[in-house]
Amino acid sequence: MCGIVAYVGHREACPLVIKGLKRLEYRGYDSAGVALINQHGLSVFKKKGKVVALEHELIGKDIQATIGMGHTRWATHGEPNDANAHPHYSFHRKLAIIHNGIIENYAAIKQALLKKGHTFTSETDTEVLGQFIEDIWENNGGSLEEAVRLALQEVVGAYAIVIMSQTDPTQLIAARKGSPLVIGVGDNEFFLASDATPIVEYTKDVIYLNDYEVAVIKDGQLSVVTLDNTTTTPYVHKVELELEAIEKGGFDHFMLKEIFEQPRSIADSMRGRVKAEEGTLQLGGLRDYLDKLAKSKRIVIIGCGTSWHAGLVAEYIFEELARIPVEVEYASEFRYRNPIIKEGDIVIAISQSGETADTLAAIELAKSKGAIIFGVCNVVGSSIARATHAGAFTHAGPEIGVASTKAFTAQVTVLTLMALAAAHRKGTLSESLFRQLLTELESIPAKVEQVLQAADKIKEIAYIFTYARNFIYLGRGLNFPVALEGALKLKEISYIHAEGYPAAEMKHGPIALIDEDMPVVVIATQDSSYEKVVSNIQEVKARKGRVIAVVTEGDTHLPGMVDFTIEIPRVHDILMPLVSVVPLQLLSYYIAVMRGRNVDQPRNLAKSVTVE
Ligand code: F6R
Repeated sequence: MCGIVAYVGHREACPLVIKGLKRLEYRGYDSAGVALINQHGLSVFKKKGKVVALEHELIGKDIQATIGMGHTRWATHGEPNDANAHPHYSFHRKLAIIHNGIIENYAAIKQALLKKGHTFTSETDTEVLGQFIEDIWENNGGSLEEAVRLALQEVVGAYAIVIMSQTDPTQLIAARKGSPLVIGVGDNEFFLASDATPIVEYTKDVIYLNDYEVAVIKDGQLSVVTLDNTTTTPYVHKVELELEAIEKGGFDHFMLKEIFEQPRSIADSMRGRVKAEEGTLQLGGLRDYLDKLAKSKRIVIIGCGTSWHAGLVAEYIFEELARIPVEVEYASEFRYRNPIIKEGDIVIAISQSGETADTLAAIELAKSKGAIIFGVCNVVGSSIARATHAGAFTHAGPEIGVASTKAFTAQVTVLTLMALAAAHRKGTLSESLFRQLLTELESIPAKVEQVLQAADKIKEIAYIFTYARNFIYLGRGLNFPVALEGALKLKEISYIHAEGYPAAEMKHGPIALIDEDMPVVVIATQDSSYEKVVSNIQEVKARKGRVIAVVTEGDTHLPGMVDFTIEIPRVHDILMPLVSVVPLQLLSYYIAVMRGRNVDQPRNLAKSVTVE
């Protein structure tokens, strides 16, 4: 949600900031803006729409500067328009501010400022914060840094902010609480960004700012203090991210690139962990906690959206292999209940971005109740990865398409490894099945590759259903969460209404929707529920529904019964979602492209949901 980039050093700031904003556009893309300081003083340029609209706005303007900051917005307070776009000037235009997050008590602060005669040009909470900081600065007589700290002590909510001041063209002040902010440390230059993607081109040395910390970059020096003015020594990490990982690499969209990356990303999420030949499985991040996981009385899995679907897959696998009861909760619901956490319970938080506000809040709640929290995150250094006691990274590489694809399969892979490790330690899994599953896991990348080869056929099917108004997705057992995921993918990028159900639930209501205009995607692989799913398909066909079935290769029965089949290779039941989800991702992608949708940046969405 909202992307932040800032730079101070010896380079041209504006092109660098614009390029960085394009890398962060997945976080929000309803308006964008930059602030610069040069001989004209502090200037702000901003525009409704994507970063390209801002680029047009900048044509012919004097934008030469070696300090600048930019923002790409996902609207919270106030509709997307030029006025609400960031950066915002302060009341006397001494400052400009960009912000990611929500200032919950902005209305009270605004009232106090209105009483002092302030006026506002936008509806945003951010402008209120900028004016508040300037007001303290002007009235306190102290430094700007002190004013920032004092203002933030009064603020309720979440923020990552960057401030530039008219009076000091060498200075950037940044602070965070609950929203990510990374500092890139170069040679006599500094970068600030919501994640490392705009920075890696210039430096691999980064500092992850912590909550309640304020970073002051001034005269080429960086200092970090806490809100109560204690100096901290920031730790410089080396980021491993390579530039090609965040570029499209010849694909039309990031989403398609990420779907096609899955053989590699699944292999990466197992790399160094699974050694089938030796019959070993190591999860370094869980080593000290594996006993606790194996002995746990209950596992509660929390996540949102696609990550929640990965949790549902994990529920089946943990219960089946490790015989540990599992509950899967939406993080947003968990955090507002009074959940019962007993001794011996483990909470697993799943998040691609590692920044989802609901998941983060749910973790804090579970922690306060004494739970041990494991994280399954993709982004190293993210807030959730740092808030958990232990965990395993998914190593899928940066996921830039807003719709999650390779992150899902990597999450399911890592959760499967966790379940296998727990079951092996607990003794609920025979050595032979353990070894068989490790071997089968190693074969998954090749099987996903095989599904990807059917892309053209899936494209043809997509063409036929491009103008459908609704879709139903059905699956049973481990393929039920896959049905949910398929429906979510379709609705978020094509804007076609789609619902996923356990196949047998259809007759309890949704069957009323079935007629010749209703496409029904059924995951009907030859697993233990195959016969039952075939009966469900017959129920759909009897009502003239049009069935697209995902079937196991060599199935001779279903092709004669349904309208279209997509074959996938035979896999062990437990590992099926890793393969069966892939055709559904492709189907959604092609339908969305044929409908002319912006698949990488679908309307109203953003990748990293850092507001509740
Ligand atoms: C769907 C999608 C979202 C995310 C959800 C959680 O394609 O991307 O549903 O899965 O917002 O995000 P993370 O996993 O970053 O916590």
